[in-house]
Amino acid sequence: MSTEPFGRLDTATELRQRVLPFCRLKSGEIWEDRVRGHKVGVLDATNPNHALMLFGEARATLAIQDPPYNVVVGNENTSNLFKMNLDEYLRFSQAWVENTLKILSDNASLYVWLGADQKEHFQPLPDFMILMRRYPELKSRSFITMRNQRGYGTQKNWMAVRQECLYYTKGNAYFNVEAEYTDIPKILRGYYKEINGEKTENLQRSKSQNIRAGNVWVDVQQVFYRMHENVSGCYAQKPIKAIERIVKASSREGDTITDFFSHSGTTLIVGELMNRRVLTMDSDPIFAELTIRRLEHLRKTGSLGWQHHNPFPEINDFLVEQSREERNETDSLTLF
Ligand SMILES: C[S@@+](CC[C@H](N)C(=O)[O-])C[C@H]1O[C@@H](n2cnc3c(N)ncnc32)[C@H](O)[C@@H]1O
Repeated sequence: MSTEPFGRLDTATELRQRVLPFCRLKSGEIWEDRVRGHKVGVLDATNPNHALMLFGEARATLAIQDPPYNVVVGNENTSNLFKMNLDEYLRFSQAWVENTLKILSDNASLYVWLGADQKEHFQPLPDFMILMRRYPELKSRSFITMRNQRGYGTQKNWMAVRQECLYYTKGNAYFNVEAEYTDIPKILRGYYKEINGEKTENLQRSKSQNIRAGNVWVDVQQVFYRMHENVSGCYAQKPIKAIERIVKASSREGDTITDFFSHSGTTLIVGELMNRRVLTMDSDPIFAELTIRRLEHLRKTGSLGWQHHNPFPEINDFLVEQSREERNETDSLTLF
């Protein structure tokens, strides 16, 4: 395993060229898992045929969609990051939402992670919410905020620490309230009520000594390079704990669940751990390959990711050489 740093795999042109020959799927192809029946496709979430190609006759009781947010955050070098105008983004969203509706079962849940650009009137979150009013079969149920530990911001604005997730249901969707309980003990007391003539305090009446997550999640650590679940090369990985909470709340063992924007394969990993079948896709063959490798790595080693190690050992020599050159450049800069 290499410990050389591995850059963002969507924008690093040379790195992409090195890695692509080791990706087993080409655009339009689907990998099928012989062990549990999972599928990973290099497919386009907006293509009207691709979701059905992936699904065949199968249907999902849960879709967890985490599309690109159309928001560039922090101090990223923005020159090579692709951003759509809002109309384009809404056409893109409409296409993948309609494809999702084609493969949902009669009673199902849909979760959508989205961003809001505070520099651009919070697009696309409110626009997306309004778009969703077109689909009467979907009921809006909850607007969840997950709080990041680390944020970005200046001394002249509130630090940006939130990630938004919209929850919709179709028909009579399953919901397991047990999934909501956190590891955080209740600390507030003093909410009294008389029961059978006896004054009781809120903790005496509670079902659990711990708080429910509710729609503001403060107990999920965002993924960073020191965590085992980190997949080096990914730039938008969701924490396993957040996806586990959703999968436990809105699906049962043996269900088929989906994610059209797989990236690091978090939904596939959670499905594998929680005994759900996962049908997933990513339009980028590199992220589809990473998704499959992450599952194989889990089965082989029990690890949830690679931490800061390189998931493509085939290009170790190139990475070592690259970091040697970078070190040399830094040394010569120091000398002069
Ligand atoms: C925000 S990331 C998803 C992160 C994922 N939830 C995780 O935990 O790793 C979005 C992913 O969508 C993929 N993507 C972008 N456009 C797509 C499209 N039209 N169809 C399928 N995937 C697409 C990108 O390649 C990227 O990997």
